Amino acid sequence: MGFLDFFSKDVAIDLGTANTLIFIRGKGIVLNEPSIVALDRNSRKVVAIGSEARQMHEKTHRDIITIKPLGGGVIADYEAAEELIRGLIKKTQKDFSGSIRRMVIGIPSGITEVEKRAVRDSAEHVGAKEVYLVAEPMAAAIGIGLDVEAPFGNMIVDIGGGTTEIAVISLSGLAAGESIRVAGTEITNAILQHFRKTYNLAIGERTAEEIKIKIGSAYELEEELIATVKGRNLVTSLPEQRDVSSPEIREAIAEPIGQIVNAVRRCLETTPPELSADILDRGILLTGGGALIKGLDKRLSDETKLPVHVGEDPLTAVVRGTGKVLENLEKYQKVLMQTKRI
Ligand SMILES: Nc1ncnc2c1ncn2[C@@H]1O[C@H](COP(=O)(O)OP(=O)(O)OP(=O)(O)O)[C@@H](O)[C@H]1O
Ligand SMILES: [Mg+2]
Repeated sequence: MGFLDFFSKDVAIDLGTANTLIFIRGKGIVLNEPSIVALDRNSRKVVAIGSEARQMHEKTHRDIITIKPLGGGVIADYEAAEELIRGLIKKTQKDFSGSIRRMVIGIPSGITEVEKRAVRDSAEHVGAKEVYLVAEPMAAAIGIGLDVEAPFGNMIVDIGGGTTEIAVISLSGLAAGESIRVAGTEITNAILQHFRKTYNLAIGERTAEEIKIKIGSAYELEEELIATVKGRNLVTSLPEQRDVSSPEIREAIAEPIGQIVNAVRRCLETTPPELSADILDRGILLTGGGALIKGLDKRLSDETKLPVHVGEDPLTAVVRGTGKVLENLEKYQKVLMQTKRI
């Protein structure tokens, strides 16, 4: 066995509600695909995983079903989650072969002991010999290069698909935190509901997500935007299209955005004063796909009177963090989550 083969058996994973990313020691990020599994309805055999499964999502015929095994950041469908991890790791086989020695996985900080166990079991079932868990906001902080070991407070807000995780990190630990199951998916759903209720227009999840990404915002835009939406009229049952403006979408997503803002406020309220002072200087850092919602930084800054920055490449922050932990397990010993053997 060569030197590189030896190292390539260590992997780090961000098992997200929306996207799963895989990092291999010595190689970096080798895979970034949607957390979706497509199954044959009758035999329950896997027909596609990741990107291919996403292509099929919502366009399936009656013999194929698509499953998102993660819900609210945790495993909702154990079997499908294992298929997902197994299938995605298989896709990276060209990058490494043989069994996995160490696996570092980012998981929500608000996760229960049973949910942790499920993640650990899945990792072990796909062949990982040693499994290490890291809280997602901690991984995100490490990923964007914050010095998590320092005796200063840093506030991270990771807005993913299923969860928004807010944490104040200091001395390698979580000094304060909030975790809510309101994030990107809820925002997409709010857009879906808006068209249904206001115009009797049924639109697909992917269409709603596209509108969110194109014109969704949490603060007035310097130049407001327009997008065209296509769907099916629920009264006439005919295809229909209409134009929609960014202020209208802002209003439609105000509720989930408000919940995220409130969670940040709650976390600030429970932060020890010394660390609050640090946050006043350093500001809040946003990661996860939700960090890219236009004007969210401004909105949070407006509401908290604190500086707010979007971390570099927010969608890969967690996996880059778990990757750094994997490559420096000794140094990051303290950030690993303890699990009880049940
Ligand atoms: N440019 C963008 N603008 C707004 N939202 C975006 C953008 N890009 C991605 N998103 C949203 O970000 C979410 C996915 O983010 P991310 O990959 O960080 O989630 P995840 O890690 O899979 O989920 P979780 O951490 O909750 O388990 C999706 O809801 C997606 O619609
Ligand atoms: Mg995430």
